[in-house]
Amino acid sequence: MDFSFTEEQRLLRSAVREFVQKELSPVAAELDREARFPVEQLRKASQMGLMGIMIPIQYGGSGMDTVSYVLALEEISRACASTAVIVSVNNSLVCEPILRFGSEEQKRKFLVPLASGKKLGCFALTEPQAGSDAAGLNTNAVKKAGLYVLNGTKLFITNGTHADVAIIFAVTDKGKGTRGISAFLVEKGTPGFSVGKVEEKLGLRASDLVELSLQDCTIPEENLLGREGEGFGIAMITLDGGRIGVAAQSVGIARACLEEALRYSKERFQFGQPISTFQAIRFMLADISVELEAARLLTLRSACRKDKGLPYTKEAAQAKLFASEMANRVAYKALQIFGGYGYTKDFPVERWYRDARVTTIYEGTSEIQRLVIARELLR
Ligand code: CAA
Repeated sequence: MDFSFTEEQRLLRSAVREFVQKELSPVAAELDREARFPVEQLRKASQMGLMGIMIPIQYGGSGMDTVSYVLALEEISRACASTAVIVSVNNSLVCEPILRFGSEEQKRKFLVPLASGKKLGCFALTEPQAGSDAAGLNTNAVKKAGLYVLNGTKLFITNGTHADVAIIFAVTDKGKGTRGISAFLVEKGTPGFSVGKVEEKLGLRASDLVELSLQDCTIPEENLLGREGEGFGIAMITLDGGRIGVAAQSVGIARACLEEALRYSKERFQFGQPISTFQAIRFMLADISVELEAARLLTLRSACRKDKGLPYTKEAAQAKLFASEMANRVAYKALQIFGGYGYTKDFPVERWYRDARVTTIYEGTSEIQRLVIARELLR
């Protein structure tokens, strides 16, 4: 594998770094404190082409590869992990499946505005009784005279409040198990489609996480994404790509922790000297850097495989598992280095500690990643 980045990848990374320094870092704490959706920052991210990084230019995207996506997400997460998840969901979980499974008409109608950032999307798989067991859906879709009527409840949907388009997974044939699930494109404003409870969360507080309700929500049959019965496969393939995004987000959070811990350890004096002179602190910094690099390499490896058209289910799960667990360990250690100050809101490390937590849960828990990895190993 060659990780010497192309000129295009390097340029993107420095442009995103600059955007983040100017637009995101100064407001990230405030967005978190006020649980405020980063509307203005997303508008600028859209202008930079960050909402459809891997989508071809003719469909409104930037026409770049997954490695570029990983580099951009690491930079965004380094400043604001909430903004990163909003960007990541739109890129990986919404634009990608429409590109891959959508009809030409769906690409023109839905993908172009989503990839260019004029619209925002969400991915609605999870339900109150179907989390890790993604096939246990209760939401159903019944076909009637060229229309589908959807009924059910979706839970923990990132971007749900602000999304213009939702990819909804629903059962079309209960007797067929995973082969009886289909994917649908549902537009905001469709009668019977509404936002329910908005969750109060521990971390990623500037992003939203909501319940979506479908009550006799009727959509035209051309809003079926892929073929009837293909929905579960679409969800799984989409999540393979999404997991690379979560891994990159975790790397970004951990990098933020390392950079701040390094700075602080040189400035903080105890026992008459900077705490960076103490071996206890040096060992923690060294361990953080090793784990961070290992996670970054796993993440880039999975992205490279995706770009080369090689299988990447196992590699994406490995990257997501290791990087998300690593981000939690790193945030814990970084907070320890900051001591009592790290526990306060005067320093950003407590936000990163909270933001890291969900990375081992969403887009498949660590336990599900282990299942996926073991299944691929034993195949
Ligand atoms: N790629 C392609 N096809 C796949 C696949 C993959 N990665 N994984 C499974 N499939 C196919 C299988 O080949 C099988 O196909 P056939 O019927 O043709 O044989 C079919 O899907 C069923 O597969 P399984 O028997 O493996 O299904 P399962 O019920 O045992 O579930 C699971 C497998 C891995 C546990 C799955 O349920 C899973 O991934 N669960 C976690 C769900 C998850 O990640 N949820 C996150 C929600 S989204 C979110 O968090 C977004 C957000 O807001 C940020």
